[in-house]
Amino acid sequence: MDKVDLFPVTAEISDGHISHIGGVDLVQLAELHGTPLYLYDAATVNGNYKNLRKYLDQQYQGRSQIAYASKAYLSLKFAHKMAGLQSAIDVVSFGELEIALSAGFPADKIHLHGNNKSEKEIRLAISKHIESIVVDSLDELQFVEAISKEMGQVPRIWLRINPDIAVDTHKAVQTGHGASKFGIPADNGKALHAIQSARESKYLTLTGIHTHLGSQIFEAKQFSRAIDALLGLCKEAGWHPDIISPGGGWGIPYTEESTQNDPEAWVQAISKAVQNWCTRENLPLPELIIEPGRWLVARAGVALYRVGATKETRDGEWVAAVDGGMADNPRVALYGSQYTAELVGSANDRPIVKTRLVGRFCESGDELIHHIMMPRLQRGDLVAIPVSGAYQVSMASNYNLADRPCVLWLEDGKVEILQNRELASQTAWWLGD
Ligand SMILES: Cc1ncc(COP(=O)(O)O)c(C=O)c1O
Repeated sequence: MDKVDLFPVTAEISDGHISHIGGVDLVQLAELHGTPLYLYDAATVNGNYKNLRKYLDQQYQGRSQIAYASKAYLSLKFAHKMAGLQSAIDVVSFGELEIALSAGFPADKIHLHGNNKSEKEIRLAISKHIESIVVDSLDELQFVEAISKEMGQVPRIWLRINPDIAVDTHKAVQTGHGASKFGIPADNGKALHAIQSARESKYLTLTGIHTHLGSQIFEAKQFSRAIDALLGLCKEAGWHPDIISPGGGWGIPYTEESTQNDPEAWVQAISKAVQNWCTRENLPLPELIIEPGRWLVARAGVALYRVGATKETRDGEWVAAVDGGMADNPRVALYGSQYTAELVGSANDRPIVKTRLVGRFCESGDELIHHIMMPRLQRGDLVAIPVSGAYQVSMASNYNLADRPCVLWLEDGKVEILQNRELASQTAWWLGD
């Protein structure tokens, strides 16, 4: 695929060099806000959401919802944007839940996930009457029930099922195989027991059934299998859910070598599987909730870095170090993720050389791109890395006491700060005082 298709839809690229996103000049942004700098393009986020909504409307005949998996990236202002699109939201922590509530997500559009929710998180979810607490184990079922009883409330819950479906993705982001820590096993009686207990409980209302197979998945058929597994289990339990969710996980391209991956195939596979089942069994269509994170926001995000030191290795490879790296983007070190990059502005006829783009942190694994052919970078250059909108800032750390980066929202030539640069050294100073 073309490199331009990896950047946000508003990216202006001429002569192979990127200059603007969302109508805003990248050189000026870097000067004003410093680097590393993360940019989100409004048109790409909004367009992705609308396309997905359109596919659901076309493919699924029952009620349906998109719930943004906010672990991909969340800040208060970003949550406002997603709430404005009428999205629902998947949260996994007290912080994410608080932000979703503060940003104005209606309680009935919030789902609390996680394999080890704290009492504090469960209490907040119950007291705010959110749409669902997605119960991950039999232990948690008892825990939530005990808290509900004590609070005199009857929260709505879903059960997260582990259907033992292995998907072709990095092992760290496979979540639906038998050995995964997530979900209640579908096939050893535990899930049946959970459904029965939840239905019998006076302190819980079981409304939904859920699974999540993993992330960066490109095989639509695995989602059909998951739906069949969930509905098969419900049939065995003699119960039909009001809501069904096969989670998120649809993959996206990160480099020119990847193929385009339109999510229509994903939505179609899920919709057909639910519809076929319900027609065959003569059952009403449950509400279908999909939970994309990466697909909605990754392409909207661009990471901007300033090049510092450069050197040539013994083997003649050009090594350019930027002012960020594994602290703002741990994905390369964690999953061996591949990226591409583009020089911002003109290259002035520089030679194209084999380049290794590395970070500034004290670890050899701190690389952003192992090999890329680029104009020979030099100190002061700006480099843009596309497809940086998911699981980067949200997974950022303060390693080497790095400041977590500033994040901007770019829309029609206007710039809004989503998140200020964090002053990690100052925080550490006060902590030790
Ligand atoms: C329960 C659940 N839903 C949805 C997602 C989103 O996955 P992705 O960003 O790959 O779409 C995740 C990611 O871990 C998840 O755990």
